[in-house]
Amino acid sequence: MAMDVFGLLGNPVGHSLSPPMHEAAYEELDIDARYVTFEPDPDDLEAAVEGAAALGVTGLNVTIPFKRDALAVVEPDDLADRIGAVNTIDFTGDRPTGHNTDAGGALRALREQSDASLSLEGARAVVVGAGGAGRAIAFGLADADATVDIANRTESKAHDLADEVPNATGHGLDALEELLADADVLVNATSVGMEEDATPVPADALHGDLTVMDAVYRPLETRLLRDAADVGATTVDGAWMLLYQGVEAFERWTGRDAPVDAMNEALRSRL
Ligand code: ATR
Repeated sequence: MAMDVFGLLGNPVGHSLSPPMHEAAYEELDIDARYVTFEPDPDDLEAAVEGAAALGVTGLNVTIPFKRDALAVVEPDDLADRIGAVNTIDFTGDRPTGHNTDAGGALRALREQSDASLSLEGARAVVVGAGGAGRAIAFGLADADATVDIANRTESKAHDLADEVPNATGHGLDALEELLADADVLVNATSVGMEEDATPVPADALHGDLTVMDAVYRPLETRLLRDAADVGATTVDGAWMLLYQGVEAFERWTGRDAPVDAMNEALRSRL
């Protein structure tokens, strides 16, 4: 096939920012490719992946509701297997393989956008939220050899996740103040702050030595990030996580360095 086809499998996918972000990369590097959204029936995931393979599709991103089910229809790598979710399928090998670039993307966002003095190895990281996003971020941070404290509204879910993640401990939200006093990194992986001016973290628990990253990207400037900036913390907004999960997928599929600036511009101009 002359033209490479990439895409997103989800249902719904209407509001996705992935097509313009990836197509900006193809344009920048003069790659003849398209990034298409697909909305298969939730029961048809396996047929969709087999069909994509048969048609010569190069790569697919995977989103709700297919991230977990995709584990069973591709060969997942170790990280995707441990996280329990695939967000990227690579068709360039003998058989489709599954990966999770949400984890690597979050790490890369922290590494590239935080102050150069932040080393994740040995860092004390607090992840708020134990849902799908929290899982990926907690496993990613543990892989980078950070110590991970997971705080969740439903405390039992934080303990369950912490049991699976190396060097992790689970807590309720009431522990945040104490945890943050000695923390280097804080990541909001809850939906709090999306479309509402709310934060899951008390402002007076924040301090200037923190790097604070928010998975929420609508709005870009969440109340958490404003509170963090007010105390002099380094802030990393949710668009960086979205960007770098796409960057990591692009690089896996194409074997080339992603044109990060062009992808970032395409993304941010739409937020
Ligand atoms: P995602 O895949 O985006 O992580 P999710 O799996 O539904 O979405 O997880 C949502 C996360 O946001 C959970 O950690 C949830 O806490 P609970 O496990 O207690 O439900 C958290 N969350 C959602 N609304 C919240 C709120 N108002 N206050 C605190 N945490 C909230």
